[in-house]
Amino acid sequence: MKLLHVDASAKRATSNSRALARQFIALLQQGLPDLEVDYLDLTVDVPSHVTEEFARAIYTPKDLRTVEMHDLLADSDRMATQLLAADLVVFAMPMYNWSMPSVFKAYIDNIIRAGLTYISDEQGIIHGQLDKQRILFLSTRGADLGPESRYAGMDALTPALQAAFKFIGARHMHFVNAEPLEFAQPQAREAGLAKAKLELAELAQTWLRTIADTDFAPSLEHAI
Ligand SMILES: Cc1cc2nc3c(=O)[nH]c(=O)nc-3n(C[C@H](O)[C@H](O)[C@H](O)COP(=O)(O)O)c2cc1C
Repeated sequence: MKLLHVDASAKRATSNSRALARQFIALLQQGLPDLEVDYLDLTVDVPSHVTEEFARAIYTPKDLRTVEMHDLLADSDRMATQLLAADLVVFAMPMYNWSMPSVFKAYIDNIIRAGLTYISDEQGIIHGQLDKQRILFLSTRGADLGPESRYAGMDALTPALQAAFKFIGARHMHFVNAEPLEFAQPQAREAGLAKAKLELAELAQTWLRTIADTDFAPSLEHAI
């Protein structure tokens, strides 16, 4: 079983999203000691922005691409393949200006790839390839964006993530939003963090149960 862990916070030692993601993965590892973890820090391996050459290369059929095009797409190929190889995915990111960090948007622009993460059939129908992955989108926010708050309705992050990953076939998407972690009284911040930790612990249990159930079926068959 393979897990891909992706961090996107500009902060390091003091980052809440990085810490929460580590805690969640540690919970999974208690139930899955053989879990293989692949790690990508998007603030270190910063994905390239879309350029004119990139846009031309991705829409050129693979067998017609020049050597330069293949070279240009090498990092994007690697990131898309790494994502496809994962069974479980943890994307941890802070909310920046009501949406995602720019490194994560660049990541999305690199992993949404015809012939890799989605396939168009002869009728032009798109078949997303991420249907097996269980994906956690863990986002940390400074403000309270709840329905009663002054920032209600300003979450442009969740719908953007849902649209992008639904397009490439994601069926098991889970969202945990830790808020308010900054622009609030200490008590509210502590409560926001505690609530997120609880949701993460519950999700870890759900994933572990689902994995155990799936693994149990073939072993039963085997026993028969
Ligand atoms: C550049 C920048 C923009 C931010 N924009 C928002 C925002 O739009 N809404 C919000 O609630 N918090 C915003 N924040 C606060 C962060 O989302 C919050 O502090 C979060 O907990 C940071 O996560 P981290 O500790 O993993 O870096 C912003 C922070 C930074 C640095």
